[in-house]
Amino acid sequence: AIKEIVAREVLDSRADLTLEVDVLLENGVMGRAMIPTGCSVGKHEAVELRDHQSTRFNGKGLLKAIDMIRTEIRPALLGKNPLDQTGIDRLLIRLDGTDNKSRLGANSILGVSMAVAKAAASHLGLSLCAYLGGKTGHEIPLPILTMLCGGKHGGGNVDFQDFQVIPLRARSLHDALAIGKNIYNALKSLMKSQGMPVGVSGTGGFMPTLPSNESALQMLTDAIMLAGYRPGVDVGLSMDVAAEMFYEGKRYHLKSEGRTLTADEFIGLLEQMVDRYPIVLIEDPLGEDDFDGWTEITRRLGDRIELVGDDLFTSSIRRFGLGIDRRMANSILVKPNQIGTLTETLDIIAAARAAGYGVVISRRSGETEDTSIADIAVATNCGKVKFGSFARSEGLSKYNQLLRLEEALGPAALFRGAQTLKADLG
Ligand code: PGA
Ligand code: ZN
Repeated sequence: AIKEIVAREVLDSRADLTLEVDVLLENGVMGRAMIPTGCSVGKHEAVELRDHQSTRFNGKGLLKAIDMIRTEIRPALLGKNPLDQTGIDRLLIRLDGTDNKSRLGANSILGVSMAVAKAAASHLGLSLCAYLGGKTGHEIPLPILTMLCGGKHGGGNVDFQDFQVIPLRARSLHDALAIGKNIYNALKSLMKSQGMPVGVSGTGGFMPTLPSNESALQMLTDAIMLAGYRPGVDVGLSMDVAAEMFYEGKRYHLKSEGRTLTADEFIGLLEQMVDRYPIVLIEDPLGEDDFDGWTEITRRLGDRIELVGDDLFTSSIRRFGLGIDRRMANSILVKPNQIGTLTETLDIIAAARAAGYGVVISRRSGETEDTSIADIAVATNCGKVKFGSFARSEGLSKYNQLLRLEEALGPAALFRGAQTLKADLG
């Protein structure tokens, strides 16, 4: 039974504070969870509770969230069975009582939800992966590897938020990560040779100032070749456009290129990029409420590449239902803190799978050393993950956890690689 719940403020990867929760069981076993934070946050996400009005840490402290856990969640959960994850998550949702978890806070709720699961796993002597995945969770995901950053993850350089590579012919995760790191190093020397600064963003990607969004694709293609791989054959490109961040008044404003496009023109631009470069996946190509645009791009590109809804769906069953009705996207990005409980995270993954959508489990840009999402990815056989780049250990720790899980599964581990992509690879 749950004996004690303690929450505290700890540091995250962006020099902010974030929430850590410990759940202690009667037999002395403990589960600990740390909660990440986004910076390109979708409007429809569950809401994290911060102190706001306070002058302490510019209102970004977590005393209110800690107080909610102490005064409301703790008394409701003491004595409960930690193995009843769905019961506990349902209780947390009921206790909060809002649609977006804004009263107790999605961070407080998820912190407790995850810490309970980790305590339960430890209690049974299992990894979180084995606890959640049972006998069926055995698939090692294909990584989407961040290389260049712009938008809110960059430094006022290009508009699109992330440019990534996806190893297409890797036969194991080990292989995929080796290919990725070779390209990362090639990209770094390419940038150095052109006199560009090689400092990295919060997710570890480089953030050069380039004349256009398309030139980032060209630079990545060059780096892939410099590393000795064939673009489109060995390695594909992908990007998180995070279009909501420059969508205003029904127009797409490309600041770095000094032009403003209608949805139709912007879809045309993306289609041209797909024609010219070996792009296999695009996340958030359009604004989160530009439903007509989403339906149109899915009609035009949905048979060729994976179209992933992040801000569009915010890991919410209700938003995902809209996606199915309107034929928007063919894949969903899942971030547990967008929805706020482990059970709802598992539910949205199951719903996406049932609807034939692809699933990508993703970190946030503000992260911690918590590696639970790696375990969730393998336990659910989700297929793909986006954990960041080859610098900064809050992201690398998650890839490293996947390597451990791959090892622990031994011959039972399955790596489907590019087969998990909703893309026509010819
Ligand atoms: P975040 O964005 O900064 O909100 O974590 C990551 C993403 O858009 O995928
Ligand atoms: Zn995104």
